[in-house]
Amino acid sequence: MSVDVGLLLTWLLGGAIIAALTVLIIPSLASYVHKWRVLWPVTAPGPTFPIVGNALQFKSGGGEFFNQIIQYTNEFRDAPLLRIWVGVLPFVVLYHPENVEVLLSSSKHIDKSYAYKFLHPWLGKGLLTSTGDKWRSRRKMLTPTFHFSILAEFLEVMNEQSEILVEKLRKQVGKEPFNCFNYFTLCALDIICETAMGKSVYSQSNSDSEYVHAIYRISDIIHKRQKMPWFWPDFAFYLFGEGREHDKCLKILHSFTLDVIAEKAGNIAYTDIDSKDSKKKRRAFLDMLLNATDENGERLSNEDIREEVDTFMFEGHDTTAAAMNWALYLLGCYPEEQKKVQNELNEVFGNSSRHVSMDDLKKLKYLECVIKESLRLFPSVPMFARTICEDCNIAGHEIPKGVNAIIIPYSLHRDPKWFPDPEKFNPERFLPENSSQRHPFVFVPFSAGLRNCIGQRFAIMEEKVVLSTVLRHFQVESKQRREELDMLESSFFVQRMEFGLNS
Ligand code: HEM
Repeated sequence: MSVDVGLLLTWLLGGAIIAALTVLIIPSLASYVHKWRVLWPVTAPGPTFPIVGNALQFKSGGGEFFNQIIQYTNEFRDAPLLRIWVGVLPFVVLYHPENVEVLLSSSKHIDKSYAYKFLHPWLGKGLLTSTGDKWRSRRKMLTPTFHFSILAEFLEVMNEQSEILVEKLRKQVGKEPFNCFNYFTLCALDIICETAMGKSVYSQSNSDSEYVHAIYRISDIIHKRQKMPWFWPDFAFYLFGEGREHDKCLKILHSFTLDVIAEKAGNIAYTDIDSKDSKKKRRAFLDMLLNATDENGERLSNEDIREEVDTFMFEGHDTTAAAMNWALYLLGCYPEEQKKVQNELNEVFGNSSRHVSMDDLKKLKYLECVIKESLRLFPSVPMFARTICEDCNIAGHEIPKGVNAIIIPYSLHRDPKWFPDPEKFNPERFLPENSSQRHPFVFVPFSAGLRNCIGQRFAIMEEKVVLSTVLRHFQVESKQRREELDMLESSFFVQRMEFGLNS
C-alpha cells in the first residue's frame, strides 16, 4: 500500500491548525460565554448583542463617548454598577464609593487595563504602567523621592516659574478676554522638567522647543489611539494612522531624556567627590533615581530611569495644568469665593511680593479647599481603568477575573448622598468639620489605595504656589458660564475657556 506523502502532510498540517485553533479559540470562547452569563444580571444601559456588545449605541468621538458614559451614570444613579461590552471586551462601570472601595482597597486588582498598552512605547513599564513585583519594587524605591523634605527643595522652582507666568499674564491685563490654558500648561511643563530632570526647557519663553512640541504631539496621538479601536493593531496605526509621527516624537523624547540621564550620571560622580559643590546644586528626581537601590542593593539602569522620568513628565504636567485652569475658572465664576481666597492671601502675605514658603503653604487652608472642590467637580483624570485580577463580588454581583473595571471620579464626585447639590461650587465642603464623616472612597481625584498617585502632594503644592502667586497679582473673571462650555469638544474642555484679568 502506498502513502501519498503530500496528502499526509496536508492532513497533518490541517490537523495541527485545527488543534491550535481549538486550543486558542475554545478557551477564549468558553471564557467569553462564562463572562457573558455571569455578568448578565448587572444593569446594562441598552440592548447588548453577542460579539458587538453595546458598540452600536456608542458615540465614536472621545468626548462624546465620555459624555455618554456620564449620562448613563446619571440615568442609572440608583443602580449599584453598570455593565457594558465594547465588542467582546466586558467592562463594569463603578461610581459608588462602596464599590470603588472593593477595587481600590484590594492588593490584588492592581493591573492596568488594555488601553494603557499604548503608553508602553513611550513610558515602557514605568510606575504607571507596570504591575506585579516590578511595580511593587519600583513603588518602594520611588516613594522616598516624594518625601516632604525633598518636595521642599522644589519650592524654589515652582516660585520662579510662577513669577514668569505672572509676567506673561500681565500683558493680558485689561485686554480682550483670552484663553490661559496654554500659559498654565507651559508653566506646569517647565516645573516638571526642572524638578524631574533638573533641566530647563524654557517652554514658557520658547514654546517652539522640539521637546515641548514632541510631548504635546505624542500625548495627543496616544489619547486619540486609545479611543479608536481600529487603530489598536500596529499595522493599521502605522499604515493609516499617526504611527510614523508617533515614532518620530518618541525618538526625540527618548533621546532627550537619555542624554540628560547620561549628563547627570557624569555629574553625580563628580558631586559625590566634591560634597560642598553638591550642596549648592538643586536636586531633581533624576538625581535620586540615579542613587536609588532596590531591596537587593541593585541600582536602576539608564533605561529603567528613563521610563520613570518619562512617566513623571507624562503624568505630572497636563494633570496639574488642567487642575489649575479649572480652579481659576471656577473662582472667576464665583466672585465671593474668589474674595475669600484674596482675603486669605492678604492675611498670609500682606503687600509683600516675597516667594511662597513651606510655612505659607500650610496656612493657605481655604485655597486648599478651592483646589479640592475644583478637583471634585472637574477631576483631571475623569476616569481610569483596571483589570479584575481574580473573581470578586461587587454589590452582590459576581465579577469574573479578566473583566475591565472603569472608575469614574467625575460621577462618583457628584453622588448627592455625599455631596448635596453636587453641581454647586462650594469649597467649604472640604473644611475638616464638613468632610471628616465622608466615605473615604467618594473623593478620589488621585485614585486611592496602593496604586494611588505618587505625585499628589507635589501636585497640591504646585497648585498652591502657582495659584496663590497669580491671585496675589490679579483678579480673574470667567467669560463663559458653565453651561456654555462645550463638554463634547474634549473631555478636558478647558481649552475653550476665556478669562478677563484685572490687576
Ligand atoms: C492634579 C494633578 C494630578 C492628578 C489629578 C493625578 C491623578 C492620578 C491618578 C488618578 C492616578 C491613577 C491612575 C490610574 O490608576 O490609571 C495617578 C497615578 C500616578 N501619578 Fe498622578 N496625578 C496628578 C499629578 C501627578 C504628578 C505631579 C506626578 C509626578 C510628579 C504624578 C505621578 C503619577 C504616577 C507616577 C502615577 C502612577 C502611580 C502608580 O501606579 O504607582 N501625578 N495620578
